[in-house]
Amino acid sequence: MTVLNDFRLRLGSDEYLPIMVGGMGVDISTAELALEACRLGGIGHLSDAMTPFVSDRKFKTHFTKTKSGRYKFNRDNIDKTQIKFNLDELYSATLKVVSAAVERKEGDGGLFINVMEKLTMGAAADTLGMRLKAALDAGIDGITLSAGLHNGTLKLIKDHPRFRDVKIGIIISSVRALKIFIRGAVKLDRLPDYAIVEGPLAGGHLGFGEDWADYDLKKIVPEVLEYVRNEKLDVAVIPAGGVFTGTDAVEYMEMGCGAVQVATRFTVTKECGLPPAVKQQYFAAGEEDIVVNSLSATGYLMRMLKNSPAIGANVKPQCEPLGYTLSTKGTCLYVDAYHATDNDENGKKLSVMDKVCICYHFGQHNVWTCGSNTYRLKDTTNQLPDGSYQILTAEHVFNDYLLSENHEVKLPELPVPEAAQA
Ligand SMILES: Cc1cc2nc3c(=O)[nH]c(=O)nc-3n(C[C@H](O)[C@H](O)[C@H](O)COP(=O)(O)O)c2cc1C
Repeated sequence: MTVLNDFRLRLGSDEYLPIMVGGMGVDISTAELALEACRLGGIGHLSDAMTPFVSDRKFKTHFTKTKSGRYKFNRDNIDKTQIKFNLDELYSATLKVVSAAVERKEGDGGLFINVMEKLTMGAAADTLGMRLKAALDAGIDGITLSAGLHNGTLKLIKDHPRFRDVKIGIIISSVRALKIFIRGAVKLDRLPDYAIVEGPLAGGHLGFGEDWADYDLKKIVPEVLEYVRNEKLDVAVIPAGGVFTGTDAVEYMEMGCGAVQVATRFTVTKECGLPPAVKQQYFAAGEEDIVVNSLSATGYLMRMLKNSPAIGANVKPQCEPLGYTLSTKGTCLYVDAYHATDNDENGKKLSVMDKVCICYHFGQHNVWTCGSNTYRLKDTTNQLPDGSYQILTAEHVFNDYLLSENHEVKLPELPVPEAAQA
C-alpha cells in the first residue's frame, strides 16, 4: 500500500520528505519543533510573530521593556498613532531568534519561517521588510508568506543577495490569490517555489469569510493544480488544513501535490511551545468546543477553543509594549472595542466581547487557536491513569504521517512507570 514516505518534495535542486510543519505564532511552532522536522528530513517553520517579545522571553533581552518605556507617556491615550517599532531593534530581535535556530540545524530538511503580512506593527511595509531582511541575513532556508496577498512583498527583498537562492512560498486559499501573487512575481522574474493551499479547516486565522464552511480543500487544490499545470509553472502545490492522517496526505500526493502542511497534530508534542496544561485542553476538547469567530483584532476569522481564557477578558490595550496589530494609521480593532465597552458601577471595565487583544493574549498563551480536527487528538495518544493524556514527540507524529496506512494512527509506547524504572 502506498504511504506518504513513498513521495518526495522537490524545491529547486533540493529534496525533502513531503511534510511541512506549519508556522504557529506566537512561538507555538518553537525552534525545537521546527528543528525536529528539519532533522527528520522534512520542513519546519519558525514564526515571525512578535520576535522582540519572543527574544525577551528566550534570551532575556529587553526589547519589550525598552519600547514600553519609550511610550510610557501614551498608556492612557486612546490615540496610538505615535507608537512605532524601532526598526533596528526589530532587526536585532528577529536576527537573534532566527540565528539561534539556524545555528542548531541538523539533518537534510529545511528550516523555514512563516512571515505574516497582517502583522502590520504600525508601519506595514517597513516592518515586514525588516523582518524579511533579518531572516535572510540569519540564513533561513525558506520564507513562507502568509496572512495576506503579499502583492508588494517580493519587491521589499528583491535586492537582497539571497533573493534568488532562498526558497519562497505563499499561503493562499484560492487560485485567484495565487494568480495575483504570480503576476507580481513574474515582473521580478522570481516565481515562488511552492504555494500552500490552506483550506477552511486549518488552525490560526482563516483566509475565508463568514461562508468558510462552503469551501472544501479537496475542491480548491485541483483548481490550483490545474492552473499550475496549464501555465507550466514549476511551483509545488502543498495543501493544508485538516490533513490528519498519512492516508489523507497520500490522497493529495496522488493528485499531484508536492507535500502537505500540517500543524494541529504537532500542538500536543513536547516540542510545541504551548504550556503543558494547554496541551491537555487540546486533547480534552470535543467537537462542540471548537469555534470559528471574529474576535481576532486582525479582522480575519480565527478558529479556537471556546474556553480560551482570552475571550471576554478586558485587558487594557497593550500597544505601548506590544502593538503588533496596529495598522500603519495607528488603529487596532481591539483598541476600538475596548473603548466602546462600558465600565461597571465601580468604574471597572466590563468584559470586551467583540474583540480580543491578541498581542497580549497570544503572548500569554490565552488564545487556544486550533485546527478543526483538534477533537480527534485524544485518539492519537494514550490516556494515563491520572486521566491526563500522554504528550507525544514530534518524531513520533512525523513518522506516523510518513508510514500510516488506512487512516490508522499509531499510539506512542506507554511511559515506563516510575516504580518499574527504580
Ligand atoms: C495553534 C496554531 C497556530 C497557528 N498559527 C499560524 C500562524 O501564526 N500563521 C500562519 O500562517 N498559520 C498558522 N496556523 C496554520 C498552520 O500553519 C497550518 O497551515 C494549518 O493549521 C494546517 O492545518 P491542520 O492544523 O489541520 O494540520 C496555525 C495553526 C495552529 C494549529
